[in-house]
Amino acid sequence: MGCDFRARCLAHVAVLLHTPCRPVGETTVGHVIAFEDQTTQEKTPCLVVDAEAFAANVKAMAQVLPGLRLRPHVKAFKCTELARKLAANGHTAFTCATLSEVAGMIHAGLGADLLLANETLNVEQMRDVVALPGRVTIAVDSPETIAAAAAAGVTEVLIDVNVGLPRCGCPPGQAGVLADVARAAGLTVRGVMGYEGHLMMVQDRVEKTEKVSDSMALLAQAAADVGTDFISAGGTGTFDTNTVATEIQAGSYALMDTHYATLESPFVQAIWLEATIISVNTESGYVVADSGLKSMGMDHGNPAWAHGKVWFCSDEHVTMAPADMSHWSVGDRVRLEPAHIDPTIAKHERMWFIENGAATEWPVDLRHW
Ligand SMILES: Cc1ncc(COP(=O)(O)O)c(C=O)c1O
Repeated sequence: MGCDFRARCLAHVAVLLHTPCRPVGETTVGHVIAFEDQTTQEKTPCLVVDAEAFAANVKAMAQVLPGLRLRPHVKAFKCTELARKLAANGHTAFTCATLSEVAGMIHAGLGADLLLANETLNVEQMRDVVALPGRVTIAVDSPETIAAAAAAGVTEVLIDVNVGLPRCGCPPGQAGVLADVARAAGLTVRGVMGYEGHLMMVQDRVEKTEKVSDSMALLAQAAADVGTDFISAGGTGTFDTNTVATEIQAGSYALMDTHYATLESPFVQAIWLEATIISVNTESGYVVADSGLKSMGMDHGNPAWAHGKVWFCSDEHVTMAPADMSHWSVGDRVRLEPAHIDPTIAKHERMWFIENGAATEWPVDLRHW
């Protein structure tokens, strides 16, 4: 064993000394990648998006919700290059969670119809955003948020209704009154929205359909009270069970994560966190890669690895037990499936879009608030 290790060391040093540049498929220490299907040569940790898997998700969604039946939520991917591909596919209206996302979409020429599906009291930032050349609708759920929107020069609002998730949204019975308050403040009430986030992960389809239907009955009544037939709701977990909303606000479906992958759905994993193995412990049967919890959202747990078990993540490390230790060496690259893409992507400045073997940089340009 000692001898093997010494020979391996000498071989690597020889490779390093005699390799002037790095050919495709080799890592910086000269080990030829044979096991992980596809990897890049970008600095790790980095996000990589597979063009084919992404296209399959876009197609699967458009078959159920074509064009404006879907209002993709940009908070999931925070990237105007990705949004541009959705717009080219007919989804030209978008949902945003922050005013920065709204501004970034307008600056990217994607501001035809943006919904801020979130409450804000930031009059100054709202004023800046509505001065840009785009159509912006803001969610409101109280006299205070209505007053802020009016003070900022917003022209169109949606009444946000609580449909069961204890988050924003007025009680369903108050939607009509709030719409009157908004109109009295000079605002146009475009419709209602309600996010049934508490039902996204219901696994049983029959149960989910019933619960979504009950939740959306509240929103439909609120819409009637407001006097509108514009109903915005839904997400990746309810995209095909919510039949009441006139548009669905799904975003995660485009790239997916292991959390949503537990649901039965047509969507496939299209994004990975690529990392480099920086240490191998053959005796104890684990490898360590250079991607820890500072490079991924951990609220839904550890990432998954197709070639073994993820033991744990620390700040800059992930420790994993490969199914077959003999496949892995220091310098190999691995691809991890994030458990929750929204916070994972928000930690990165870019993603690499991999199409026909070439990597194109997609800035994560809608980050921050
Ligand atoms: C207001 C709102 N709409 C829709 C969604 C659905 O997004 P996704 O498709 O990523 O689940 C979310 C997710 O949190 C949300 O907050």
